[in-house]
Amino acid sequence: MADNIRFTLNDRPVELVGVSPMTTLLDWLREQRGLKGTKEGCAEGDCGACTVVLERGNAKGVGRREAINACIALLGQLDGQSVRTVEGLQGPDGAVHAVQKAMAESDATQCGFCTPGFVMSAYAFAAGGEKADLETIHDALAGNLCRCTGYRPIVEAMTKVAGLPSEPAPVRPTRAGSAVFGGSFFAPRSLAELLKLRTAHPEALLLAGATDLGLLASRSRKPPAAVIHIAHVPELTAITEDKEQITIGAGATYAAAMPTLIAAYPALKAYLARLGSRQIRSLGTIGGNIGTASPIGDMPPVLLALEASLRLVSSRGGRDLPLEEFFLGYRKTALAPDEVIQSLSMPRLWPGEVFFCDKVSKRRDQDISTLAAGYRLRIKNGKVEDVRIGFGGMAAMPKRARHVEAALLKEGFAAALAAVPKDFQPIDDWRGSAAYRLQVAANLLRRLELRIADPARAVEVEAL
Ligand SMILES: Cc1cc2nc3c(=O)[nH]c(=O)nc-3n(C[C@H](O)[C@H](O)[C@H](O)COP(=O)(O)OP(=O)(O)OC[C@H]3O[C@@H](n4cnc5c(N)ncnc54)[C@H](O)[C@@H]3O)c2cc1C
Ligand code: FES
Ligand code: FES
Repeated sequence: MADNIRFTLNDRPVELVGVSPMTTLLDWLREQRGLKGTKEGCAEGDCGACTVVLERGNAKGVGRREAINACIALLGQLDGQSVRTVEGLQGPDGAVHAVQKAMAESDATQCGFCTPGFVMSAYAFAAGGEKADLETIHDALAGNLCRCTGYRPIVEAMTKVAGLPSEPAPVRPTRAGSAVFGGSFFAPRSLAELLKLRTAHPEALLLAGATDLGLLASRSRKPPAAVIHIAHVPELTAITEDKEQITIGAGATYAAAMPTLIAAYPALKAYLARLGSRQIRSLGTIGGNIGTASPIGDMPPVLLALEASLRLVSSRGGRDLPLEEFFLGYRKTALAPDEVIQSLSMPRLWPGEVFFCDKVSKRRDQDISTLAAGYRLRIKNGKVEDVRIGFGGMAAMPKRARHVEAALLKEGFAAALAAVPKDFQPIDDWRGSAAYRLQVAANLLRRLELRIADPARAVEVEAL
């Protein structure tokens, strides 16, 4: 079976014949389509010069717009989607769009290299009718870098378009059944098909949002030989909750999962705002963050603290595995070659329980953690009765701080701080020396003590 990739580009249907599904959207736009408004700065998702907008419809027929990085998105991922580039942006009656007008009137461009990317991020923001506050504007722009204008006029332009009435995104028909592009890009539409493909093609990599794997095609110029794309499998994208727990499909994007996660664990609001950028969170998934098993991934430490459990499935059946037992060593996991992570579930916070998390990185936005940590505690009459702490960046894999937890329960925070080296012997690298990591981990525990001792002070500390 061979299928052609079909999607909508700037309101016009496109069908690709004989184009590799592993080509990046950016390469195709610029080199094959001649649309050079979308720029290549870094080719690894960091600078935002390549930002385009996905216009997505949901099952209820309501559309939404999401900025993505064209440099790491593969053409196969776009099948059935609707893409808008800067060339496809216009206001009523063919006039320039309000965002472009605001950028020009605020003198928000100099050499212009970054401008189309900013315009597209601003378009996704403005068309969504979001709030005009600075925090939201900064969040919308965190994935775009400008090297010459400076951000003040760009933010000013954003304040002009913020709060405009939202523009309804067109909802277009998507592909109903499974597809195979170029003999190597498998796009199943059901769990049964996904599992069959996983068994039949053990060499194929699972592909979710491609915010890790897409770099093979862009930065390394060595795209994967074969992939199974899980983003259209409903059993993997479902988000459900009941009184006891919340369950997030491994293929649900951060953008889709964030409202549920933040409602259940409010401390994740500030934390997730620092995971990549909006462009990354529009396609990236928590399943991919766990699947890639990086020792400095942001989600595993907080999920370890939250007592997450994974549902792993294969054509042999399914099993539930505590996340703690999933990581076995440096980028080594308990996932069998024929298995897929279907979802992860976390118990809700019970009365008396609190949850906090921290990310320490060299740069505030768009940076991988040097250290990350999550803490779930049950407190009664000012005494910690139960605790789970997960750390990333402190060992070859994300890990619970078992000695710290035991010391905290038995003897209090001073003993917990002293126990950090018993749990972790971190490595030195360019992000931080082993001594630095140990010191920061201890400092984060001090911060946790402050947060628990005085909730008012906790807010003050949070704002640092
Ligand atoms: C610019 C930039 C900034 C970033 N910032 C951060 C950050 O701040 N914090 C952070 O933690 N990460 C960051 N990342 C890394 C990346 O965005 C995350 O790891 C993301 O969660 C990966 O999800 P994905 O869906 O894109 O995974 P993919 O790239 O599609 O896949 C990643 C890996 O997971 C495997 N996989 C995917 N889904 C499954 C599944 N269901 N079952 C089993 N295996 C699976 C794949 O085979 C692959 O090995 C950043 C990346 C970029 C490019
Ligand atoms: S070229 Fe820099 S984010 Fe894509
Ligand atoms: S205007 Fe030159 S990089 Fe932004």
